[in-house]
Amino acid sequence: MMHSSKTLYVHTIGCQMNVYDGEQIARGLIPLGYRPVGRPEAADLIVVNTCAIREKAEQKVFSFLGRLAILKEKRPDLIIAVGGCVAQQEGERILSRAPYVDIVFGTRSIDRLPELLADAAASGRPRVAVEMAADAFVTPRPPEKGERVSGFVTIMQGCDNHCTYCVVPSVRGSETSKPPEAVLAEVRGLTEAGVREVTLLGQNVNSYGRKEGLCDFPDLLGMLNEIEGLERIRFTTSHPKDLSDRLIAAFRDLPRLCKHIHLPIQSGSDRILKRMNRKYTRAVYLDRIEKLRTACPEIAVTSDFIAGFPGETDDDFRQTLSIIETVGYDSLFAFQYSDRPSAPAARFSDKVPDPVKAERLRRLFDLQSRITLEKHQKLVGRVETVLVDGPAKKQPADGPVSDPTQWAGRTSGNKIVNFTLTPHWKSEAVCPGRLIPVRIEAAFPHSLRGRPVDGGAPRSGAQGEETHAA
Ligand code: 5AD
Ligand code: SF4
Repeated sequence: MMHSSKTLYVHTIGCQMNVYDGEQIARGLIPLGYRPVGRPEAADLIVVNTCAIREKAEQKVFSFLGRLAILKEKRPDLIIAVGGCVAQQEGERILSRAPYVDIVFGTRSIDRLPELLADAAASGRPRVAVEMAADAFVTPRPPEKGERVSGFVTIMQGCDNHCTYCVVPSVRGSETSKPPEAVLAEVRGLTEAGVREVTLLGQNVNSYGRKEGLCDFPDLLGMLNEIEGLERIRFTTSHPKDLSDRLIAAFRDLPRLCKHIHLPIQSGSDRILKRMNRKYTRAVYLDRIEKLRTACPEIAVTSDFIAGFPGETDDDFRQTLSIIETVGYDSLFAFQYSDRPSAPAARFSDKVPDPVKAERLRRLFDLQSRITLEKHQKLVGRVETVLVDGPAKKQPADGPVSDPTQWAGRTSGNKIVNFTLTPHWKSEAVCPGRLIPVRIEAAFPHSLRGRPVDGGAPRSGAQGEETHAA
């Protein structure tokens, strides 16, 4: 039997899918006697859950591993396991760069970690497991009761799209969908633990079930919409080429589906979209946006952009800025193009110089900051339903530090709202996991601030205290 006082630190870099994997890794090690701790220095086992999407993410991995080399020198008993996308990509090569690593496990070998730990301990030698199993979803384990309001559920692995900049098909393998019964069971497990909001994860959820002939994504959403105790459903990511009319209709028809879509476009130039192998044009994308807004006028739309893809000219980039204006995104993520050795674009010849990429990214963010703030300002005075997450982590820019009357949550459109408790709302009534109506009073670049509306009545007339807004 293993003794039960071993400590574990999971360090996650990368996307929400990695966050999900990191949580599952930690929960899967509890039966082996591991207890999570907050610092690598205090851990007997350190799991590094890595990301390979851009060069910077990969650099972060190796600089963190560098830190661990020092720890391992001081404490030779320390066990270091490296998982995730860089582990999948590099395999054995991780051991030549970081010989003090004990275990390398790939994106489809997560459930094998306990066995690899035992093997490494028995043999005293490093273990590497990076086979691309056809279907290897990690066995899901729910959080502790009441631990959290929102949870992730990975419903698909891998990707078959082959965008020319992207490493995902090579590190996460070919597209595989988790059967609907398994998704439903996992979501029920979350709601039983008190989770009120789930985010379904996949590289392209809109092709869910297609290859395996399972139910399709809108059908899956329809089934999830019926689960008792589940208040909100979100999902990410959707590929514009596969955004069906039925999915668009779901935003209108399913009350629990949040009114937010993350629809990465990457570039506003048809020439660049073609070189990226995205398989849609600017016009097709704009048509999808129009249909979404017709079906659901208040839907929030966010996106991903790459600045400085090989061959991107000033004119191509102007088209990116123009599509940002035309769509009017609620917010976006944008990145400088970064070569990934296993992706085709790494071999494209006309690379954009780094300073040009940086300048384009800066202009893109400047434009979006203005648009986001305008969007936020338009919400001032409106009542938004907020899913309460907990006490405000970061106090609003103009608020006092650690004020117990400050709480935080998100709107259906995924905007952060910090709100001030009024005397009408005792703190026990405004508990994490509740949906409450909040009148928005102020807009900031990254958040909103408001006050709960008494009794949920949007306009009660008794609004005296609102004139005292800070
Ligand atoms: N360089 C820069 N950004 C990239 N992304 C994916 N691959 C690259 C790359 N090689 C961005 C895309 C994608 C997001 C997750 O990361 O915008 O949507
Ligand atoms: Fe990074 Fe992509 Fe892997 Fe997520 S799937 S961790 S974004 S490389």
